[in-house]
Amino acid sequence: MHLAIVLLWTLFILVEHDLFPHSNSELVTQHYLGMTYENRPMYYLKISQPSNKAKKIIWMDCGIHAREWISPAFCQWFVKEILQNYKTDPKIKSFLQNLDIYILPVLNIDGYIYSWTTERLWRKSRSAHINGTCFGTDLNRNFNGSWGSIGVSHNCSSLIFCGTGPESEPETKAVARFIEKRKSDVLCFLTIHSYGQYILTPYGYKTDLASNHQDLKAAVALKEKHGTNFTVGPTSLILYKNSGSSRDWAHMIGIPFSYTFELRDKGAYGFILPPDQIQPTCEETTAAVMTIIEYVNQKHFPNSAVAVTSGSLWLGLSVLFTWTLS
Ligand SMILES: *[C@@H]1O[C@H](CO)[C@@H](O)[C@H](O)[C@H]1NC(C)=O
Ligand SMILES: *[C@@H]1O[C@H](CO)[C@@H](O)[C@H](O)[C@H]1NC(C)=O
Ligand SMILES: *[C@@H]1O[C@H](CO)[C@@H](O)[C@H](O)[C@H]1NC(C)=O
Ligand SMILES: *[C@@H]1O[C@H](CO)[C@@H](O)[C@H](O)[C@H]1NC(C)=O
Ligand SMILES: [Zn+2]
Repeated sequence: MHLAIVLLWTLFILVEHDLFPHSNSELVTQHYLGMTYENRPMYYLKISQPSNKAKKIIWMDCGIHAREWISPAFCQWFVKEILQNYKTDPKIKSFLQNLDIYILPVLNIDGYIYSWTTERLWRKSRSAHINGTCFGTDLNRNFNGSWGSIGVSHNCSSLIFCGTGPESEPETKAVARFIEKRKSDVLCFLTIHSYGQYILTPYGYKTDLASNHQDLKAAVALKEKHGTNFTVGPTSLILYKNSGSSRDWAHMIGIPFSYTFELRDKGAYGFILPPDQIQPTCEETTAAVMTIIEYVNQKHFPNSAVAVTSGSLWLGLSVLFTWTLS
């Protein structure tokens, strides 16, 4: 009798705190996306509340540049946040009724592993060029958005080698094919980098503003407090010009909300961000990403807005926003 009560209580705790093995399998599933150059399978996570309703898609990828280790850490953190809070947080509950979130935790798996085993500051993929005398394509110069036109190199020795053609790399092709097929349903494309503390909007390859520039800015600014000193604006105006980025490409194929995040820091440690900054970086970035998703949700599903309660996930994160463009 006593034992039965203890068992029941344990079961209750496990269910209540979502600690039951596979208890999240209803919400998160893993799917095959493609193979890397070195034949590693790429999987994305689909966060989806089961329902008969047709839903729209939020895409987020991490780890396109190998050495930006805080980026894959963030994708994992973000999934954890959703899992811990989706039953209780009214905002997450609300957007999961309309939106599925697709997360690719590491896009450039070959390069990421190489940065762990061999060269900490490796950036590119690991494809071989010129008879194996030269390695790696910058996957964020390899998308089919004004490919090869500006801010790239055609020399494989370069850090910004754009590949031999648009989508010449299997990793790029896997992502592009997947998104292309679903582009009418993808409302938001987020790609996570470091460092510099920027939230970058289209375009990189030209200085013209995106047609929905005001909306892109508003989605990040929305009422909520969040983030740590992110500077927001078009890549070409606040950073540098580049072509073939996934962000530009996504916007050019019709995805309205397309952003590149550059996480901490501003150069003190750069790519070698110390471990004690992982958590605060993930917290402030979660807040910023949640804000964008909420904005997109409320814009496309205006009847689903929830009353915002204090004490939610966002409380306590302070913001200071720097606008470089008015
Ligand atoms: C690659 O090697 C082959 C055979 O040695 C040679 O014919 C070819 O010119 C080389 N290609 C390049 C781009 O160096
Ligand atoms: C790149 O986009 C152009 C249209 O902008 C299209 O004609 C071309 O087929 C695309 N290339 C690839 C590799 O998808
Ligand atoms: C590519 O860059 C490397 C390193 O800067 C240089 O040595 C090489 O000559 C360049 N190759 C070409 C074809 O320009
Ligand atoms: C933002 O930057 C200012 C000045 O650089 C600094 O004093 C402040 O602490 C930063 N805010 C956060 C939340 O990190
Ligand atoms: Zn990067």
